[in-house]
Amino acid sequence: MSHGAPLRSLLFVPGDSERKQAKALASTADALILDLEDSVDPAQLPAARQRVAQLLSARGTAPQLWVRVNPPSSAACRDDLQALYAAAAGAPAGLVLPKVSSATEVVELAGELGALEARRGTAPGATRLVVIATETPQGLLGLPGYAAILGGAPQALARLAGLTWGAEDLSAALGALDKRDAAGELTFIFQLARSACLLAAAALGVQAIDGVYTEFQDAAGLHDELSSARRDGFSGKLAIHPGQVSAINEAFTPSEAECEHARRVVAAFAAAPGAGVVSLDGRMIDRPHLLQARRVLASAPPGRRAVTGR
Ligand code: COA
Ligand code: MG
Repeated sequence: MSHGAPLRSLLFVPGDSERKQAKALASTADALILDLEDSVDPAQLPAARQRVAQLLSARGTAPQLWVRVNPPSSAACRDDLQALYAAAAGAPAGLVLPKVSSATEVVELAGELGALEARRGTAPGATRLVVIATETPQGLLGLPGYAAILGGAPQALARLAGLTWGAEDLSAALGALDKRDAAGELTFIFQLARSACLLAAAALGVQAIDGVYTEFQDAAGLHDELSSARRDGFSGKLAIHPGQVSAINEAFTPSEAECEHARRVVAAFAAAPGAGVVSLDGRMIDRPHLLQARRVLASAPPGRRAVTGR
């Protein structure tokens, strides 16, 4: 990601709940996602838009305030944008786009954002985007095309911070009775959605963010999901409850031992200028190991990044 460290934890907060918003602002989440979509009763939407706009104008610096707007293809999304970019309010750090069925929708929305930013004097391109890319069947089928479509739209691609995936809406669209098998593992179709999201994010060079774990009282289950997410290459995860945030932050913060190894890999290459392959502790390391070591250090707390000695 070109705009600083990855977002490890992104906590959803219903846009109409003052109580939850107050709680969430005090959490250690890297970002809050103020929700104007599925967690808000449509009758409450106008009030929720006002509340979210008010919160944005009164914001501190942490956590980052993101907003999940309604699906980009909907009229409700236009009303969300008008409310969020009304003259007096502060702009959101970014928008989370649900039920996206094609990268073209992302390109179009990025164009609209450019006009809104210009109108209120926000720096062009300041609003970043996270796309929930697997909530519709068309969205999942279209993921292999993202890199080509967004590659031809550099202003939209520059806004893109990450891709994430959702199982709930896809499940409803498919008529699936369950997302998990008897052993609790995601069934093939949902593993496909998760993997397609991860691959498309890597192809685009943006953050892969794992989807929500809805069993918010099951700490062991969250821990297992976090281990496999980190193992496979996700660098953050959506949260729905403040109780999930610290486990998520911890899972996506490289440990001192991982950082130490990464620093040694970087140092080993620095000590052998011009070498494509070197040995470390009796093992071969080449370019992919160096890239991975740099990636670990980029997501490490500042104190763990420095490579000293040669
Ligand atoms: N953000 C901020 N605060 C939250 C929160 C959230 N996402 N989820 C729960 N809390 C607060 C509750 O208000 C409660 O505080 P209180 O005791 O002062 O009222 C406290 O944390 C403990 O909550 P708990 O009793 O464990 O859960 P709950 O039954 O009140 O709420 C949910 C459960 C699922 C309804 C709630 O977690 C939630 O609204 N999550 C976000 C839903 C969402 O945005 N979904 C869209 C994306 S999938
Ligand atoms: Mg949904």
